[in-house]
Amino acid sequence: MRDALGRSSVANRHNFLISLPDTLPQIVLAEALRGRDAVSLGSSFGVASSPVVLRPGQMLLPGFVDAHVHAPQFPNAGLGYDKTLLDWLQTYTFPLEARYVDQDFAARVYEAVVRRCLSAGTTLACYFATIHPESSLQLARSVVRAGQRALIGKVNMNVNNPADYNETTEQSVNDTISFVDRLQQLQSPLVQAVVTPRFAISCDMDLMKKLADLARSRNLHIQTHISENMGEIEAVRGLYQQCANYAEVYDRAGLLTSKTVLAHGVHLLEDELRVLAERGTSVAHCPTSNTCLRSGLCDVRRLLDAGVTVGLGTDVSGGPSPSILDAIRAALDTSIHVSFSKKNYKPLNYQEVFYLATMGGAKALAMDNIVGNFAVGKEFDALLVSVPDPDLHIETLDSLQQLQKFLYCGSERNIKEVYVQGRSVKKAF
Ligand code: GUN
Ligand code: FE
Repeated sequence: MRDALGRSSVANRHNFLISLPDTLPQIVLAEALRGRDAVSLGSSFGVASSPVVLRPGQMLLPGFVDAHVHAPQFPNAGLGYDKTLLDWLQTYTFPLEARYVDQDFAARVYEAVVRRCLSAGTTLACYFATIHPESSLQLARSVVRAGQRALIGKVNMNVNNPADYNETTEQSVNDTISFVDRLQQLQSPLVQAVVTPRFAISCDMDLMKKLADLARSRNLHIQTHISENMGEIEAVRGLYQQCANYAEVYDRAGLLTSKTVLAHGVHLLEDELRVLAERGTSVAHCPTSNTCLRSGLCDVRRLLDAGVTVGLGTDVSGGPSPSILDAIRAALDTSIHVSFSKKNYKPLNYQEVFYLATMGGAKALAMDNIVGNFAVGKEFDALLVSVPDPDLHIETLDSLQQLQKFLYCGSERNIKEVYVQGRSVKKAF
């Protein structure tokens, strides 16, 4: 049964809920039903006033978590990959983001962005907005209307930015406080604020320290970028010569907490990984972006071995696709490419990357007590996925083969329903 928050209390007592090997969240499959027509999940998950019918070839997966995505950059998705990070930001990204001073423009784009993400199966997204507090609230309103779960950040930028896309320190802090307050006034249990210094080039130490204080005093999530591109790392070295490395800049500011997620981390050093592991700070792996902006190959196995929690991010528009399925495939490709230059290297397999896309993301966002799998007591964020292909399947597929098919061959078309907190949100798209 489901309580008022959509928490399932009986999920794992059902014989068709299959607990898979340690690294894999549970998935619900029609496997136990073979030989029967279908089964209603309506009563067990409370997901529907009209019961959910799980047929052979269908499964319920935990919803995808996009641990790093820039909502205002969607109009640029697929464009501008002739440049690498710092030139790309100046040429394509900052001019587009500056346009969100116009709230009508923001409202129109953000409504479409949230629909696109939900239809791709992202039940929990960690969004960057822009520096504009009013427009950032428009994103929050779209998220609440559509019924998505999200962390939303008004971006902070006070140095080294274009004149028309910059804030003073005072403005940046005050606008962030008022953004957090107004987001909380929306009183949606699905939406939370995330403190969002863009990166160490766009913010000075004074601002970063003030933002870290704010996050600490109000127990807020934090997100930023780290060690994505070699030119960026060089620039940070020049700006913060008293710090031994990039992670130390954020650590001195007080930004590395157990509720902090850092995007990319492609070129992190061993010392930096040790600090992240100690602080409980996570990394959002963004493989499509790392390729399109030619930032580098991120060795996720190395991060995991160092004890760092990793989730997956689309990083639109650094990455071209809002689909975590695409990020899953890119993460698998990247890991194999890493293995080509390392002896005895074990690339990530599809089960491990599926974990990154669900539980890994939930942990990276410090939301794993609420979502990420179907453990009893968690809220029901799920995808109803159908992979029926009777003409091409020589044998009946077992549970893991069904999952494998979906991850390698599936698309949005295979996602028949999307649930957030037990509520179908498919009508939003
Ligand atoms: N570093 C700072 N800002 C950005 C951004 O918007 N996208 C990416 N990929 N990296 C960044
Ligand atoms: Fe990014």
